[in-house]
Amino acid sequence: MRLARLLSLAVILAGVTGDADFYSVRTKQEKDSSGRGGDDSNKYFHESTFHAHYDGRFADHQLDYHEQSEALSNLMQTYLATLADIGLETWLMHGSLLGWWWNKKALPWDSDLDVQVTEKTIHFLASYYNMTVFHYRTSRFKKGRDYLLEINPHYVIRDDSDSQNVIDARWIDMTTGLFIDITTARYDENHPEGKNVLVCKDGHQYADKYIFPLWDTVFEGAPVKIPFAFKELLVAEYEEKALSKKQFEDHHFDDEAFKWIPDAE
Ligand SMILES: *[C@@H]1O[C@H](CO)[C@@H](O)[C@H](O)[C@H]1NC(C)=O
Repeated sequence: MRLARLLSLAVILAGVTGDADFYSVRTKQEKDSSGRGGDDSNKYFHESTFHAHYDGRFADHQLDYHEQSEALSNLMQTYLATLADIGLETWLMHGSLLGWWWNKKALPWDSDLDVQVTEKTIHFLASYYNMTVFHYRTSRFKKGRDYLLEINPHYVIRDDSDSQNVIDARWIDMTTGLFIDITTARYDENHPEGKNVLVCKDGHQYADKYIFPLWDTVFEGAPVKIPFAFKELLVAEYEEKALSKKQFEDHHFDDEAFKWIPDAE
C-alpha cells in the first residue's frame, strides 16, 4: 500500500529538484530536518541539519551509541540481503572495508557506511527499484523497519565535474534516518593511464585489477564482497598503521572479545 502511494506521489513530483519531497516520504516527523535550504541548488541528496550521516526527512536527532550501532548493523544486513535477492553485485569500500579488516563488522565510532556498485548495477536499480520501500523484520527489530532505496538522477552524469552529486544512491533507514552511501565505479575510456581505470565521482580512482575479481566474505554476519586488492586499497587510503594500531577514536581493539571497545568501558 505504502509502496503504491509512494510511487504515485513520485510520479506527481517528477520534476522537483533535490531528493524526494518531505511530504511524500515522511514517516513520523512533523517537520523536515534536512539541510536542503543551505545546500547548493544542484545537490540531490541533503544531509540533516543535526548530523551529516542522518537523513533529516526521517529523524531529528542522532541516536545514542548503542542504538546507532544496532541500527547500522541492520542497515548493512538489509542492504546486502536486498542486493543479493535482486542478484546484483556490490562490495565494501572505505571505512566499511576497514571495519571488515578488523573484525568483519562496522567501526563502532563511524556512522558512515560505504559500498560500491558497477555502472550496470546502478542503471538497473535506477530503472526498476528507485523509491522502493523494503520492509525487514529481524531478530533485533521484531516489529520490522522500512528501508528506502533512492537513486540520484545525476547518476547518469559520469564525470566528476558534478561535484555536488558524488553519491549515486542511498539505502535509508526510514525509522532512524541513518543511511548507506552507494557510489558507482565507472570505467573512464579516456583516462590517460589506459582503459582499465575505474573512477568514482568522489575523486577515487583505481586500476580495475585492484577491484576485480571480488572476494566473497562476510560482514555484519551477512555474505558480502570485497575488492581483490583490499589491503593495498586500505593502505593507500588510511596508511599502514590503520591496519595494526589498536587504539583509535577513543576505542581500543580487544583481541579476546574480537571487537572495538569504547575506552570509557
Ligand atoms: C527517483 O525518484 C525520486 C523521487 O521521485 C526522483 O526525485 C529521482 O529523480 C528518481 N531517480 C531517478 C534515477 O530517476
